[in-house]
Amino acid sequence: VSVEVLFQPGGYRVKVESTETILEAVARQGYRAPSACRNGVCHICAAKLLAGDPGPAGLLTVPDNAPTVLVCKAKPTSDCELEMTNLHPADKLVLREISVQVKSVTLLSADVYGVELLAPAGELPAFYAGQYLQLLIPQLDSAFFSIANAPGSRVIELHILAPPGQSSAVTILAYLRANPLVRIRLPMGSCCLARIPETPVVLVAAGTGFAQIKSMVEWLLANNFRHPLSVYWGVRKAEERYAMPVFESWRTQPGMHCVAIAADNPDNEWTGHHTELVKALSREQTDWQTTAVYASGSPAMVYATQDALRVLGLPDAQFHSDVLEYAPR
Ligand code: FES
Repeated sequence: VSVEVLFQPGGYRVKVESTETILEAVARQGYRAPSACRNGVCHICAAKLLAGDPGPAGLLTVPDNAPTVLVCKAKPTSDCELEMTNLHPADKLVLREISVQVKSVTLLSADVYGVELLAPAGELPAFYAGQYLQLLIPQLDSAFFSIANAPGSRVIELHILAPPGQSSAVTILAYLRANPLVRIRLPMGSCCLARIPETPVVLVAAGTGFAQIKSMVEWLLANNFRHPLSVYWGVRKAEERYAMPVFESWRTQPGMHCVAIAADNPDNEWTGHHTELVKALSREQTDWQTTAVYASGSPAMVYATQDALRVLGLPDAQFHSDVLEYAPR
């Protein structure tokens, strides 16, 4: 049984199943609404009730004010009309520049740094899970980084690989350490999740390509993704697995299958090349005809993955990577 929620002033209509919240339905159908706690605490997802019965969960009534609905909690029992000015459809994210605070720069491991940026209050950065941004740093026009967290909060997390010899990455880190604010341009990239996929999903990352995959996993988990979800993460050396606690925490999620591959791990079959990542992937138990794959890494790794999965039956239209755009074959 489903009901329909009409959002004003945009006039967007969203079908809500009896088992889901309005926020889940909105995300599944390719709309974006602001959310943070997703548990009725922060009120960032509040909408004004214009008509209908949104159900008791998530309904706030304050004397002399129009009733308010927290869409992260509400499971409506009849068609409703809500006013929510910051709900946007999937294709309406506009590229923009904002100044954000540099909250922290932390060495995670083996030359990989975690950077936390904080957008100003009331300036929720709009992006889809898997998109990237540009740091606007003087004299550097190629500071592009995947956003490593899910959309819906003021915090933006980046993973920056900065080995001592790599001057542009070292310059970026020095700038972020020296400046309390940095300007960013976002969102960018079409390899992203604008809506919840209705098929199994396989995510493949090499090195800090993990950042893009992490954003997608966090968003899928937050939106109760209902299909099998597999993650493959390959690195050259075990110490480059800079986010293992996060990766390990996914292993306990129902329906998730996580494989980490490192070249110098004696317990691992990998002998030092990303073709072993592809080999591991080929053992994935899935119907490739009906699976969506998102790959994040070097062009060599991405194309080797696409070629191998095509042989196994994955249609090209279901293989997604930013590499297809910025380094076409
Ligand atoms: S109250 Fe925090 S997201 Fe709904």
